[in-house]
Amino acid sequence: MTELQDRYGREFHYLRLSITDACNFKCQYCLPDGYQRSGKSRFLSVDEIGRVIRAFATVGTRKIRITGGEPTLRKDFDQVIELAANTPGIDTVATTTNGYRLPENAHRWRQLGLSQINVSLDSLDEKLFRQITGDGRQQKVLDGIEAALDADYHKVKINVVLLNELNAHQLPNFLEYIRRRPVDIRFIELMETGLGQEYFQRHHVSGMVIKQQLLAQGWTEDPRGPVDGPAQNFSHPDYQGRIGLIMPYAKDFCATCNRLRVSAIGKLHLCLFTECGVELRDLLGHDDHQAALVARLHQQLKQKTETHQLHQGLTGVTQHLASIGG
Ligand code: GTP
Ligand code: 5AD
Ligand code: SF4
Repeated sequence: MTELQDRYGREFHYLRLSITDACNFKCQYCLPDGYQRSGKSRFLSVDEIGRVIRAFATVGTRKIRITGGEPTLRKDFDQVIELAANTPGIDTVATTTNGYRLPENAHRWRQLGLSQINVSLDSLDEKLFRQITGDGRQQKVLDGIEAALDADYHKVKINVVLLNELNAHQLPNFLEYIRRRPVDIRFIELMETGLGQEYFQRHHVSGMVIKQQLLAQGWTEDPRGPVDGPAQNFSHPDYQGRIGLIMPYAKDFCATCNRLRVSAIGKLHLCLFTECGVELRDLLGHDDHQAALVARLHQQLKQKTETHQLHQGLTGVTQHLASIGG
């Protein structure tokens, strides 16, 4: 079967699959008013999820990242992990989580086939964590990271959305953390969403401010591997973890795009920002439609744009990232 490739020669072996919009946190930049149930939306069932994963595996997908919202809130999260891990062709099952359910579950999920975990942790300062996420249970998240390290995941990473006036000056705390713990920390530039335009004006800051501090303190940039994600990574011999910078406003950010997205309601998103998503659900109800599903993926990929245009001042159509899993 032909593997997915777009008009610009980019190949896509990585699917980010959202399984819910719901979340129990209220991160200021994502769901400041908390999760609002739309009433209409019905999230993909486990059978539908299985058909999405099988179709993507047929066209070359090898890594599935299960996202949300908060994916671990789904009662059938265990089944989703098992399903992804047992699909022929899939060699890596990852998730991005707020970490809240990790302490009790990290070991079991590892045994079921989950191998990489990214945890959102916007501040190591407890008060600031509460202010940014709307939730006071930072200790649970920290315990969750320790549980993941103990359970022998291949990779444990922390995501920090870089916020002017809030956490952008806290690089020293994060460095102190990875001096002791073998965890990579990635600083993600705040992206402008439809619902977060004012917030963006106030809090967006370039990842270059972190890069300059790292270089001044003896950190060196790692060479990029051919299948690497969007982060520019930095290492230092005195630290156990690395620092990554995800800078979507850099002009060439999209040149190495290697991922596609499917939302929790079964829409294919070719990019985080440029379009509203293409319906797949009419082909997810029955195994007989797998060939048509694969054909639609190939056909849609021809429409993928070269870049998201955020750096040209366009916001795009995405209201918040919880709907398509970041
Ligand atoms: P790895 O698989 O560990 O490389 O992780 P990842 O960076 O793909 O996954 P994660 O969910 O931790 O992503 C971190 C954040 O980076 C996302 O939530 C987004 O905010 C941002 N990000 C990831 N991929 C893209 C992308 O293709 N475009 C843009 N603009 N941002 C992205
Ligand atoms: N800009 C940057 N990152 C965001 N995330 C959610 N909304 C935004 C935004 N507007 C990130 C979260 C988490 C991941 C799922 O998406 O911090 O790490
Ligand atoms: Fe929830 Fe993640 Fe959005 Fe925070 S960023 S509200 S943890 S989905």
